[in-house]
Amino acid sequence: MQLADSYGRVATDLRVSLTDRCNLRCTYCMPAEGLAWLPRPEILTDSEVLRLVAIAVTRLGVTEIRLTGGEPTLRPGLVSLVQAITALVPRPEVALTTNGLLLGGSGGLAGALAAAGMDRVNVSLDTLRPDRFGEITRRHRLDDVFAGLEAAARAGFAPVKVNAVLMRGVNDDEAVPLLHWCLDRGYELRFIEQMPLDAQGGWRREQMVTAAEILDRLAAEFTLTPAPGRGNAPAELFTIDAGPGQVGVIASVSAPFCAACDRVRLTADGQVRDCLFARTESDLRTPLRSGADDEEIAARWVRAVRAKRAGHGIDVPGFVQPARPMSAIGG
Ligand code: 5AD
Ligand code: SF4
Repeated sequence: MQLADSYGRVATDLRVSLTDRCNLRCTYCMPAEGLAWLPRPEILTDSEVLRLVAIAVTRLGVTEIRLTGGEPTLRPGLVSLVQAITALVPRPEVALTTNGLLLGGSGGLAGALAAAGMDRVNVSLDTLRPDRFGEITRRHRLDDVFAGLEAAARAGFAPVKVNAVLMRGVNDDEAVPLLHWCLDRGYELRFIEQMPLDAQGGWRREQMVTAAEILDRLAAEFTLTPAPGRGNAPAELFTIDAGPGQVGVIASVSAPFCAACDRVRLTADGQVRDCLFARTESDLRTPLRSGADDEEIAARWVRAVRAKRAGHGIDVPGFVQPARPMSAIGG
């Protein structure tokens, strides 16, 4: 069995949100007071997450697991979960998307995650300026992100990837400084166009800094050469100057890559989403908790993905943002 849809796409990349909570409050994600968090009894336990991941990997052809949030490092069982996932046969690739706060410092998770078999980490970083970091995330913890990135590099993650979202009038003057900073440290930077996924519904198309604009700004300072072999990866990659440094630009809105999408998502409360922008979800938690066997859960999962729409439809008149905000879907 595989997770195929009616457009011939096959999902092999499963993104698992481990929690909808976060230790930051990014303005483009959630309001200052946070959100109404998912009730704890509705959140899958570690063994439930593992069971669903195991079904995806052993029965449905999923080859890559990305753990996301909210902030996935807030999940107490994270390291054991990674250990258990990397012990599956066939062994999937395991990656983490994090804000980096808890990777470094004393008790930092980077070393333990590497030892548990985590293959890759992506750390979000939108600014290098402490004051601005405080404004964007509403927490003054830029130093913790820097420490987290260093810890990730020391733990052997190579390359450490950095995700940045640029916002007009907020941090769009930092494209070049962010790239210099990442190149100096050997981190691979990716700019992501801001998508209409914030809980407050504040996204405006005109406000979005497009991939083309980002490339223009970078081209003023660097020579960018398109790197071959993009495959299914949403990031368009460029080699910088003579290399080997690269930068990625993810044009999720202005040049959607939906036709090559190989992703499927599982929310922290056990709902399958076939797209970030899906308007419907398929419940796996209820069957899981009422004794369904692996085969039945796998069959439900297959049905859930089959109806995946051709694209996210952000540009289609009548587009409606998904009811779940990004923090409860997972990046
Ligand atoms: N559009 C694009 N990226 C977003 N992220 C969070 N909200 C949005 C949005 N609306 C990013 C975070 C992080 C990753 C999980 O997704 O900055 O890098
Ligand atoms: Fe947390 Fe990520 Fe949302 Fe920022 S964007 S508040 S780091 S979940």
